[in-house]
Amino acid sequence: MRVIQVKDYQEMSDVAADFLAGQIFHKPHSVLGLATGGTPEGTYKSFIQKARHKELPLSELTTFNLDEYEGLSPEHPNSYHMYMNEHLFQPLELSSTQTYLPKGDAENVEKEARRYEQMIQDHGGIDLQLLGIGENGHIGFNEPGTSFTSRTHVEHLKPTTREANARYFEKKEDVPERAITMGIATIMDSRSIILLASGDRKKQAVKKLVEEVRKEEFPASSLKIHPYVTIIADEAALSAVSTNTWTEPENESLIRWTADKKEWEIG
Ligand code: F6R
Repeated sequence: MRVIQVKDYQEMSDVAADFLAGQIFHKPHSVLGLATGGTPEGTYKSFIQKARHKELPLSELTTFNLDEYEGLSPEHPNSYHMYMNEHLFQPLELSSTQTYLPKGDAENVEKEARRYEQMIQDHGGIDLQLLGIGENGHIGFNEPGTSFTSRTHVEHLKPTTREANARYFEKKEDVPERAITMGIATIMDSRSIILLASGDRKKQAVKKLVEEVRKEEFPASSLKIHPYVTIIADEAALSAVSTNTWTEPENESLIRWTADKKEWEIG
């Protein structure tokens, strides 16, 4: 894992947008894995500007989102379909034949999860996966305890996750109890991964991710053995990580603080 420290949310968004633009520049037929939530909003905004400015070729691009709430149709204002349309797909005029999300309103959501997993495989897998991180360490909607061998599946959301996401809904009770999410193994199959973290609210999760061992109780820690993971985190999100220390989590990697470069070298 590599950790790039940035100053604030804006810089995190710009650096992440550069990664996305670079990926598409080098491989226009890339398959991107995308996230929703507050964290990547700025990244999408910055990416839209860069894509227009650099005239990035987007017609061969394919995207797969991490997750969708059970029971919400693509037209529902709180669906991740709607979020993606508003924040990325419509501004870039990406078509519905190149942008995929699980269908939360499918009659049989378990079957839909299997179909979605197969579709990702049929497209040759994900080249670059963008992730946020939950305060409890979830990635996608893989809550603590999810098997590291899991594929796209239906997940029960923890009360803390429903509470954290209630800010987008009219009432707390409106937050669905379940969601379809790519599994940990699905995410780990991605050829490269960027995880974004910004703000004080994420500092304990980032500390655990960087300093603790790999365990299913903390889903993001699965990433520790992935060969190409870059964490882009701002000062606030990194503020609980102990500096100037070396740790050796399960002998998998070494972590070294390189303050001058504002970068953590791990490996
Ligand atoms: C959303 C997703 C989630 C979020 C996480 C953080 O597609 O995959 O794992 O990344 O819940 O959410 P925010 O960014 O709102 O803090």
